Amino acid sequence: MSLVTLTINDKQVQVESGTTILEAAKLLDINIPTLCHLKLHEGVENKPGSCRVCMVEVDGRRNLAPSCTTPVFEGMVIKTNSIKAIKARRNVVELLLSDHPQNCLLCEKNTDCELQKLAADMGIREIKFKGEMSTYPKDTSSYSIVRDSDKCILCRRCETVCSEVQTVSVLSGINRGFNTVVSPAFGLPMTETNCTFCGQCVSVCPTGALTEVNNTSKVWDALNNKDKLVIVQTAPAVRAALGEAFGMEVGKAVTGKMVAALRSIGFAKVFDTDFAADLTIMEEASELMHRITHGGRLPMLTSCCPGWISFFEHEFSDLLDVPSSCKSPQQMFGAIAKTYFAEKMNKDPKDIILVSVMPCLAKKYEAARPEMNNDVDIVITTRELAKMIKEAGINFTSLKDEEFDSLLGESTGAGVIFGVTGGVMEAALRTAYEWITKEVLDDVDFKVVRGLDGIREATIKIKDMEVKAAIASGLGNARKLLNKIRNDEVNYQIIEIMACPGGCIDGGGQPYIHGEYEILSKRANALYEEDRNKPIRKSHNNPEIIKLYEEFLGKPYGEKAHKLLHTKYFKRQC
Ligand code: FES
Repeated sequence: MSLVTLTINDKQVQVESGTTILEAAKLLDINIPTLCHLKLHEGVENKPGSCRVCMVEVDGRRNLAPSCTTPVFEGMVIKTNSIKAIKARRNVVELLLSDHPQNCLLCEKNTDCELQKLAADMGIREIKFKGEMSTYPKDTSSYSIVRDSDKCILCRRCETVCSEVQTVSVLSGINRGFNTVVSPAFGLPMTETNCTFCGQCVSVCPTGALTEVNNTSKVWDALNNKDKLVIVQTAPAVRAALGEAFGMEVGKAVTGKMVAALRSIGFAKVFDTDFAADLTIMEEASELMHRITHGGRLPMLTSCCPGWISFFEHEFSDLLDVPSSCKSPQQMFGAIAKTYFAEKMNKDPKDIILVSVMPCLAKKYEAARPEMNNDVDIVITTRELAKMIKEAGINFTSLKDEEFDSLLGESTGAGVIFGVTGGVMEAALRTAYEWITKEVLDDVDFKVVRGLDGIREATIKIKDMEVKAAIASGLGNARKLLNKIRNDEVNYQIIEIMACPGGCIDGGGQPYIHGEYEILSKRANALYEEDRNKPIRKSHNNPEIIKLYEEFLGKPYGEKAHKLLHTKYFKRQC
């Protein structure tokens, strides 16, 4: 690759030919505003060059150049901050605002909207352009995602992530000219499509065109109902990102502060979904051993992720016997809360309201699946919890750490790492190793299954047995693995799949990262650190889990466990 030398704002830089002006400017720490351009996972880039916010002036060129799509050339001289470029950008933002609802105060994305930030950075105080406004009905058909096309700026980020990263292809541009809108085909509601509700489209949408279904007022209403016992469970990945919403250091788990905040908000009991992650391992490892010893279907696929299960039910329904029948930790927790816990508290399950805090939008949909018996009443995301904490006027950063409540609050390091891709596999291996060998596993860190690459393979030696494992995160990667299973091209025993690239740390309900994907490895490290610091790091050694089986469930993968903790999958058209 040849090198070219160019000048940006009077500073020289040497870059490889083919580099865009935007990339070259970054090397000089020169910030050019962007809107449609975004680097996505798996090296996929959204750069339709359509918004024109990134215009710069190039010597010798009559018109301005979009920096995100224009390659550099030898001797190029660029001004990113000329009056002409600044005015052009301002015009572009004003034009976008002229066809955008100006009710920012009422928008779900208020203070997180990239268009709003650009307008503020540019000091826009009035919109010169007036004209016809696009109006579309809001799609509120799903439990997870709200689509408000009036706020769509046609950047196509959602379309790219949905089609190229997740390969689900629900969202795309339809119609022409002024009537162009990004939508499911024929303008169908989301619930009548293959949408898995993974929420990756929401994560990358720069405006309020795609947002989560906000359930915070339902939670406040529940907390205000004195006839109900309102309890909460929090998923592992939430603690790794919640602090970001309060300006805290990225990559620091805020478990103790999160527990304190939830108690201060008014939850009667604050429990940990990590407890149910340990329970999941008891059932999943038992199921795997049962399949291996009884000639059952292999590979077995993990089933913790509802986005992935939905994808599977839509697109691979010929393989319905492949995923584990285990419910997800959220739903296992729900089943235990409404039976064992209710019995212990001497409560009618109808008088318990269980709220889940999840990093995920598909969890909202999962809780509403009829076969889940409404065990989980309300699901909110990490972002919604942050809003509630702010609404309650809690000074999160100065909270003193508190502990989860007992009975369903004890968890091991194995439960914590469920929040990152490879974590379920590693947790399962820690238990399977000891169950198979009947020996104590001293080094519990199966580093071979860690990392954020989209597809990973590993062969793990358990005494003289070799376990062949694969891990995929992101639905595009899941599709590749599933096609291999369908065509009998692989001989893995166990596969872990998570719908979101990187796993739950990058779930559709986590604080927005605006393309800064290095944040994900910091979130992953936060979970690995919490795992390292746990006194117990193997699920089957969790004393509350041992007690649960002794007092209530009987043996793992037994009859009662099967009834409460396992589920079925269905072929779905939409
Ligand atoms: Fe370059 Fe949109 S960011 S055209």
